[in-house]
This record gives sequence, C-alpha cells and structure tokens, in this order.
Amino acid sequence: MDVAFSGIQPTGDIHLGNYLGALRNWVRLQDSYDAVYCIVDLHALTIPYDPATFAAERLEAAKAVIAAGIDPDRSLLYYQSDVPAHAELGWLLGTMTSLGSLNRMTQFKDKSDQAGEFLGLYAYPVLMAADILLYRANAVPVGEDQTQHLELTRDLADRFNQRYEPIFPLPEAIIPERGARVMSLKDPTSKMSKSDPSETSRILMLDPPDVIVKKLGRAVTDSGTDIRYDWDEKPGISNLLEMLALFTDRSVEALVAEYDGTQYGAFKRTVADAVVAGLEPVRAKYADLDDAEVSQILARNAARGRDRAAPFQDEVMRAMGLRHQ
Ligand code: TYM
Repeated sequence: MDVAFSGIQPTGDIHLGNYLGALRNWVRLQDSYDAVYCIVDLHALTIPYDPATFAAERLEAAKAVIAAGIDPDRSLLYYQSDVPAHAELGWLLGTMTSLGSLNRMTQFKDKSDQAGEFLGLYAYPVLMAADILLYRANAVPVGEDQTQHLELTRDLADRFNQRYEPIFPLPEAIIPERGARVMSLKDPTSKMSKSDPSETSRILMLDPPDVIVKKLGRAVTDSGTDIRYDWDEKPGISNLLEMLALFTDRSVEALVAEYDGTQYGAFKRTVADAVVAGLEPVRAKYADLDDAEVSQILARNAARGRDRAAPFQDEVMRAMGLRHQ
C-alpha cells in the first residue's frame, strides 16, 4: 500500500484553511493509503512559543485532528518529537542541502520578518523533507502554500538516491482542486493564516455557530450584487463561493447561476449556514473526546512510530556509511 504523510503545527487553533486545504484530504486518504500524520511540535518551536502552555496546545491539536475525522488507530497519528528519527534524518539531509535552495524559500522570508532569522526557521523545510522521506511517503496532502517545500523534498530525495542508494520515492503533493488556498475574511488577497493578528480574518474549525455567522457577516466583499467567480475583480466573493461549494458539494458554476443577483448580506448568511452545518459533526466529535484517552492514544502511537521508523532510518544510515559492518 502506498504511504501518505502529512503534518500540522500545534500553534494556534486550526482554521478553515487548514481544514479545507489539508485535513479533509488527510481524512479521505485514510481509505486508500497507509496514512501517517504528525502533530509537528518540533516545527512549531521555530517561532516564539510559550513552553508553559505548549503541552496543552499539542493535545488540543491532536484532538482537533481526530475531531476532523482522523481515526488514530487506522492512521498513525503522533507527536513528531516522540520519534527522534525525524530530527536525525533532518540533520542527515541538511548535509546535502545547499544554502541557495533554502534562500529561495518564500516562507522563511515571510516568517523571519516576524520571528527573526534563526537556524531552526531556516532549516524548517529540511525537517519537513525528513518527515516525509522517513516513511518513504508517496503522497503528501497539503495546501498550496507547501508546494515549494515539496519541491525541495523531491530534490533532496533525488540527490540522496543518486549520491547514496536509490531508497526514496519522489513524493507527490496532494492539493485539492478547491480550497487549496483559503483567503482571509478581512483581506481576500492574502491567505487565511494562524498568525494574522485579526481574529475575524479566520474562521476556526471549532468556532461556535454564532461566531461563524458573525465573522462571515463581517467578511470583506465589495459593493454590488453580482456574484461572480473572479479572483482578480471579486476575490472576497470568490473565496466565499469556494467555501460554499466545498460545504455543499456543489460546483462553483451552479452556485453562481443560483445566487447571482442575491444581496451580499443574504449570500454571506447562506455561506455561514453551510459552514456551520458542515462543521457540526466535527464539533460534536470534539465534544466527545476525553483528554486522558487522547493522550494515551498518542503515547501508544509514539511507540508504534518509533518501531516503524527504526528500520527505515537504519537503511539511510547504512547507505551513508554510518553503521557498523
Ligand atoms: P501548518 O500547520 O502551517 O498548516 C497545516 C496545513 O494547512 C494548510 N494551510 C492552508 N490550506 C489552504 N488555505 C490556507 N489558507 C491554509 N493555511 C494553511 C497547509 O498547507 C498545511 O498543509 N509545513 C507544514 C507542516 C509540516 C508538514 C510536514 C506538512 C511539517 N512537516 C510534512 C506535510 C508533510 C505546515 O505548513 O503546517
């Protein structure tokens, strides 16, 4: 069976971009892939964080991922730092990564403006490559903003295969046709993001219904009543159309035909109702989860992850001349 791997950072609450761009595909791939999913806590250390609340944030992230539909027994869901092979392989791949390739990473530029220039942030994409290559993953469900990191991962896999032994498949990004780049409700020309200081710029996956209605009611559109799918002229409306399409399972074209001419206030309410209804099962599942039980599952999966990663990591070390004969 082919392997799917992906990760999510336990910083800030999971928003609609994470859900529509990545998590829905994580859930879908569980059926056809051997799926491994990580709460990437080591990646989260690359921007300022509070160690006093971090353990609780990791658990929240794990609960949210399970609530979104990940079955932690069928898929292997664990905290990245519980399996040291991630960091070890990150180091090994770092020895083959040129500074030129890291200098091209746009996320470093964006994030270092806020967090400062640190080695961990610079090497973030190398650790991400290690996550993916550790399990020889074939498919990586992510949002569009990770495309560049996936390209680096493929380059590193290819370089390793040529320099040492051909052991890594070249992983493919699985990016949804719609929802790959959910935009901010306040500025629909920039992506919805955990780091945006404005809380009304994003809908959280676990926001209560009245909050979702309020945030969408205030979403930036423009004046007028034409509802068109046009990212240049109507980015706010296009963003809402994609959300509605994803939560109603209908095509954007059919929605445009139905809603063109509707007042924006009424249209936003329609979108809000669909988002509330679509997230209801996630909220219900989350309410049912028990903290202690989820912690136990994650601890058990850490051991499964270590067992599974060990022979893979051994193969890499042997190929690099790092094992006794
Ligand atoms: P993170 O936690 O920042 O984001 C998790 C996932 O959400 C997607 N995403 C979006 N999709 C659509 N629209 C948006 N506005 C939006 N914002 C975020 C991201 O593309 C991502 O898929 N670097 C990864 C974490 C990671 C990882 C990995 C992923 C570490 N190792 C190995 C895949 C494989 C990240 O950005 O997480």
